[in-house]
Amino acid sequence: MVNVLFVCLGNICRSPAAEGVFRSLVEREGLAGRIACDSAGTGSWHVGKVPDARMRAAAKRRGYDLDSLRGRQVTAGDFERFDYVLAMDGENLANLSILCPKGREVRLGRLLDFAPEMGRRDVPDPYYGGADGFERVLDLVEAGARGLLADIRARYL
Ligand code: 4NP
Repeated sequence: MVNVLFVCLGNICRSPAAEGVFRSLVEREGLAGRIACDSAGTGSWHVGKVPDARMRAAAKRRGYDLDSLRGRQVTAGDFERFDYVLAMDGENLANLSILCPKGREVRLGRLLDFAPEMGRRDVPDPYYGGADGFERVLDLVEAGARGLLADIRARYL
């Protein structure tokens, strides 16, 4: 089993979207028995909460159901359990680097490392912006998910 963890700040917008999008892709490709994923936040404010209503609505319009997801905070132990620990932006990555145990750094990266064609490294935080921010998150996350799956196929499957 290949295990992937998506990480943002709150675990209520970007990383739950990445989890839902990537799980859907994995299921469509018939790989649900080979690849598992989860999401977490670097912050603790939204532990136990359902993803943001705006993120859930935007995801649902594209066929992704995020309603069963609940927020949790990332832990150092996640670097033992997950083969990929993927930050949504540079701030998340910096915070994960502090938490990451020695020798596990190779597992750490950014989701958009896998979508160089999108021309940016960060999935922007949509929390304080308008509706277009949530669509942008989904566009970037869909591209990252495709590239990530290609990387997993090349390295593990
Ligand atoms: P996320 O978005 O990191 O994509 O889940 C945010 C959600 C909540 C907050 C910030 C970002 N907040 O400050 O509460």
